[in-house]
Amino acid sequence: MNKQLRKAVIAGNWKMNKTPAEATELINAIKAELDGKKTDGCEIVACVPYVDIANAVEAAKGSPIHIGAENVHWEKSGAYTGEISADMLKECGVEYVIIGHSERRQYFGETDGTVNKRVHAALEAGLKVILCVGELLTEREQGVTAEIVAKQTKIALLGVTAEQLKNVIIAYEPVWAIGTGKTATADQANEVCGAIRMVIGGLYGLKAAAGITIQYGGSMNAKNASELLAKEHVDGGLIGGASLKAPDFGVIIAAAQ
Ligand code: PGA
Repeated sequence: MNKQLRKAVIAGNWKMNKTPAEATELINAIKAELDGKKTDGCEIVACVPYVDIANAVEAAKGSPIHIGAENVHWEKSGAYTGEISADMLKECGVEYVIIGHSERRQYFGETDGTVNKRVHAALEAGLKVILCVGELLTEREQGVTAEIVAKQTKIALLGVTAEQLKNVIIAYEPVWAIGTGKTATADQANEVCGAIRMVIGGLYGLKAAAGITIQYGGSMNAKNASELLAKEHVDGGLIGGASLKAPDFGVIIAAAQ
């Protein structure tokens, strides 16, 4: 399972932060941070609020930064007030979309079933998916972390073909580590990312398992990124808080080179 086979992906998840004007500023600041530095060792993504997409895409033009969204609806169009379709995102220049983030699951009733529908809609529209899975603190304490992430992964990927899987990244995000400053240890992150890789192996075979990018997310920052990213099964990061500070995000990108 050679780590070198896989492309590292460093993705920012801005959550509900930054107005459109601030989005332009932050993308420009990240560009300045990357200027003259090596960036081809990883794919760089900024997942931004819907209303920031146009500005972010414009500001990122000609840079190595790819733009993502933070969610997508599963229907192509129709009476779904307040929702955004995959085709709408695609037309705006979005390349990636986060699906199944724990905040969506926790506050907005997202289930493994709706995650699966969103994954299909995104892939069919030609978007790349960052699929989030992760256990609650109680589940970790109960010793069922591997079972929880396996269940989330399997249901999210129901009906997804091996060809489509090439456009899926999985982000392992222990819920207790998100926004808490409490990072999983590098060994904990590696263990669960490895377990997810085994699940992919069981579903799609060893080649697919060896090729899929699995990120860690949850209080990854400029200080702990290199230790986490050095682990065999950790192929990148999904970064919340630290992705809002260009210098910190730059350090994390440098750590992935
Ligand atoms: P955090 O968020 O880095 O602020 O913990 C990560 C995430 O929710 O994707």
